[in-house]
Amino acid sequence: MQTVRQLDALRAGVTAWRAAGERVALVPTMGALHDGHMALVEAAKRAAEHVVVSIFVNPRQFGPNEDLAKYPRKELADSRMLSNAGVDLLWLPSVEIMYPDGFATNVSVSGVSDVLDGAHRPGHFDGVATVVAKLFNQVEPDIALFGEKDWQQLAVIRQLVVDLDLDIEIVGVPTQREDDGLALSSRNAYLIPEERAQAVALPRALGLAERAIAKGVEPEAALAQAREMLTAAGFEIDYVALADAATLGDPVPGRPMRLLAAARIGGTRLIDNIPVATNEYG
Ligand code: PAF
Repeated sequence: MQTVRQLDALRAGVTAWRAAGERVALVPTMGALHDGHMALVEAAKRAAEHVVVSIFVNPRQFGPNEDLAKYPRKELADSRMLSNAGVDLLWLPSVEIMYPDGFATNVSVSGVSDVLDGAHRPGHFDGVATVVAKLFNQVEPDIALFGEKDWQQLAVIRQLVVDLDLDIEIVGVPTQREDDGLALSSRNAYLIPEERAQAVALPRALGLAERAIAKGVEPEAALAQAREMLTAAGFEIDYVALADAATLGDPVPGRPMRLLAAARIGGTRLIDNIPVATNEYG
């Protein structure tokens, strides 16, 4: 695996593959890799001849009171995992390379960025869209893969690619979960054992609401049940919502829907989401 920290070295590597007519897949990450990321890498390997993984803890997507400083950084362990998995190139830009002095551009995907997580984390999706637009321009992949755990992020990126006519196939990879159902996340490392035990209430609450909606319970009543379960488990809720799967706005009968939640246990904010079949509502 090549590890590159300079843009010209990245471009030289990718240009050679492209000249040989070979496809390139990009897996953007912020490191602290777990099996969820490795599922993206495996899907990338199936989709293209070459896999590029980026690791960049993007300061622009963290709010002033968020966990940028303590976000786990595990470059050596990450690099070993990626090399063992057969990744071709690890792109490790510094903050100075990504955002040189004088950097003045903000990419903002309105609408889909403004609700749910966007409403609770102002500027977060602008930070994501800006860095992902840069990563797309730097790597010029044929395909890019993102985890469905960050469902709203995936929707923002899909909209970005459509709006900017980017010729990049965006693939969402299903959420990887622990045996008890907790979605894998780099932030799970913050949980102390007691919080980890309580955290399983998040996927359970979503499952409860999904089954209730499937049985014909009014969505608002099903969401209220899920909120009660989370509160009883010690969560402070940001939102539990049923939304249109593409726009993240209000559900539209006949269109795919998603149940999404964000809640804090101790100091750790967790998110999760699951599909709701269209024929179960509306
Ligand atoms: O999902 C993430 O890890 C990040 O939001 C991403 C897409 C790498 C952008 O920084």
